[in-house]
Amino acid sequence: MSNFQNALEYSAKWLEIIKQDTATLDDTTAKWISEETKNNFVNHFNAGWVEYRKSMTEAGDYGAVEWRGEGAKFYDNFGNEYLDFLGGYGALDLGWSHPEVVEAVRVQAGKSGIPSQELMDPLRGVLAKLIAEITPGNIDHAFFVASGTEAVEGALKIARLHTGKHNFISTVKAFHGKTSGSLSVMGKKDFRAPLQPYGGQTFYVPFGDADALEKQLGICDIVGIEIAGFIAEPIQGEAGAIVPPADYWPKVREICTKYGVLMICDEVQTGLGRTGVLWGVDHWNVEPSFEEPNPFIHTTTTGGNPMSCAAAIATIQVILRDNLPQRAAELGDYFMGELNKITEEFPGIYEKITGKGLLIGQHFINSDVGYKVAAGLFRRKVLVAGTLINAKAIRFEPPLIVAKKEIDEVLNRLRDTLKDVNASA
Ligand SMILES: Cc1ncc(COP(=O)(O)O)c(C=O)c1O
Repeated sequence: MSNFQNALEYSAKWLEIIKQDTATLDDTTAKWISEETKNNFVNHFNAGWVEYRKSMTEAGDYGAVEWRGEGAKFYDNFGNEYLDFLGGYGALDLGWSHPEVVEAVRVQAGKSGIPSQELMDPLRGVLAKLIAEITPGNIDHAFFVASGTEAVEGALKIARLHTGKHNFISTVKAFHGKTSGSLSVMGKKDFRAPLQPYGGQTFYVPFGDADALEKQLGICDIVGIEIAGFIAEPIQGEAGAIVPPADYWPKVREICTKYGVLMICDEVQTGLGRTGVLWGVDHWNVEPSFEEPNPFIHTTTTGGNPMSCAAAIATIQVILRDNLPQRAAELGDYFMGELNKITEEFPGIYEKITGKGLLIGQHFINSDVGYKVAAGLFRRKVLVAGTLINAKAIRFEPPLIVAKKEIDEVLNRLRDTLKDVNASA
């Protein structure tokens, strides 16, 4: 039942906390925030979160609540410092609260937060131009959304409109987001199966196998199933940072051209420097195909809002100016080299290490071992993914501004964790 009075008092209390500009909270407030957050998650958000997240089970008496951060470090409400090697699942390229991004957003928020959608707003134009400047090939138009899955929705819609065809080929274990259109090309049954059926048909081929794609397209051709596009991640992210064979993408480009299907590259995970080049496809010098002249075909009310555009403009500036792709390449080579040494020091724990740049996958012999490692790292204040129900492959995706000494510190804490895992086996 609605209770406006409660809502007024509760929001006022929280606004006071939000506006406190102190780095640390007093202990009573910190405890209250932990308890309050847990109750709110259980009663009003998602109880499952609290059951299987290591931030709840491994953090002591009070679940850890993230509070603030700088660079590759963040702090919980009790002031504990963590090294963030999850990096927003690869989205946090510039780390926590990058000063140039914060400043751009802060000033822009004081001017306007949402476009009228009637007058032109300058920053959408600026960002579209910048994206045209930095994307490969002939991509010269952009549309703006508020999430990765919406970007995939837009790409699928545009492919259907452009080709007049409705079917797609995707890859096994692909992750493209969780709205309906994206789920229709999702390569993992846990997310895909519960919502079936979808419109159009999707055919799946193994990632990294260009011959399988050609075979599938040939079959579709013979039986008269028309394919609008092939969609894949340049390097599969969620599947565990899986790098395809060197000739894969050039062959895929050729095959897509031969069969007249669009090649859609989902760079949500790989884009903007994470893998050591600006776009994942740049490793193989291939260009996706992407065409739609109608600017209103995929818009959202908040997508491309001035604050987000200001953040994106600052982000592009810093990534290019500070040559962060190169930094990701160098630090990634070092990190992967050290991780490979660790797999030899601790046999029987890892299957392999995969990845490129700062998109690195640790593949464990099973999910239980993976969870022990993720939980042990969390206890040692290093954040990586991995939950009780999914820890077979765990990625390291630190912000691209991470310091080498922070990587070394994580390697130390990883060795320490692995000793414990061995001792408990
Ligand atoms: C490759 C890829 N595509 C799409 C998405 C979906 O992005 P979002 O979670 O912002 O909807 C993700 C998210 O992890 C992703 O890794």
